[in-house]
Amino acid sequence: MASAELVVEGTLAKIIINRPEALNAINAEVLRLIQKASNDLADMPEVQVVILKSVGEKAFVAGADLKEMQGLSQSDAAEFSALGARAFGSLAKLSQIVVGQIQGFALGGGLELALSADFLWASEKAQFGLPEVSLGLIPGFGGTQRLAARIGASRALEWVTSAQRYTADQAFQVGLINKILPADQLEAQVELLAKKIISNGPNAVRAAKKLVTLTSRHDEGIGYLAESSQFGLRFQTPESNEGIAAFIEKRKAEFKK
Ligand code: CAA
Repeated sequence: MASAELVVEGTLAKIIINRPEALNAINAEVLRLIQKASNDLADMPEVQVVILKSVGEKAFVAGADLKEMQGLSQSDAAEFSALGARAFGSLAKLSQIVVGQIQGFALGGGLELALSADFLWASEKAQFGLPEVSLGLIPGFGGTQRLAARIGASRALEWVTSAQRYTADQAFQVGLINKILPADQLEAQVELLAKKIISNGPNAVRAAKKLVTLTSRHDEGIGYLAESSQFGLRFQTPESNEGIAAFIEKRKAEFKK
């Protein structure tokens, strides 16, 4: 199986991220495959619901691939971020209902991917956060924009600047996730929900999504572009060089104050 795959089962589709050995970290290949899956789904009106999920118990996605990102130039990092913004933007713009199934860590780019779904159901073991500033980076796949839209700017600013991890309960309290389930029931319950949505009038469901998201999802304009350019500027600085090296060397980063 490729590192990300689109599986279509009649009216239900699944986008499955599959790099469990790296906790499903997102590299450029995964971004290209998510882009392709989104393009394909845009031409599949018969598909009514898409489940966004990943392989393995420990992590939904533990962020962008820090090993691939180490050493990127500022312009390559900005382009990597823009590739992610385009791929996640295409996913977020689909006319189908997209449900995120979150079983474990949804960190950094993993939370940003989850935020591109319409809503999230999570295991009680799930953990959420945007740890980028602890690496001398900032979120680069739309997280500064989509988290603020989902939980409000003041909470998003706390999440982004503290780089803390939040439990499923905390994520539920701020409206980031819609439901918490026992780990062993998550997959079956998400599939039941998908079947419930599919049993309804398909044109009505599509129209409902269009209307509910009409005013709340602004055009993905200036904020996303600014984020990609700021993401690039963080690279090849003493801060991000130390932050990324510390992660790879499995030690705590020491930033110069
Ligand atoms: N990139 C690359 N590899 C990663 C990774 C990532 N984001 N997250 C985990 N891995 C790899 C680890 O390096 C490790 O590989 P090895 O076995 O080869 O050493 C393997 O996955 C298992 O991870 P850990 O040993 O670290 O597992 P753990 O249980 O001790 O910790 C964790 C789990 C807390 C999720 C920890 O892996 C972690 O902190 N990961 C990074 C989280 C993070 O900082 N994400 C943000 C990335 S930056 C970003 O996403 C930018 C953006 O917005 C575009």
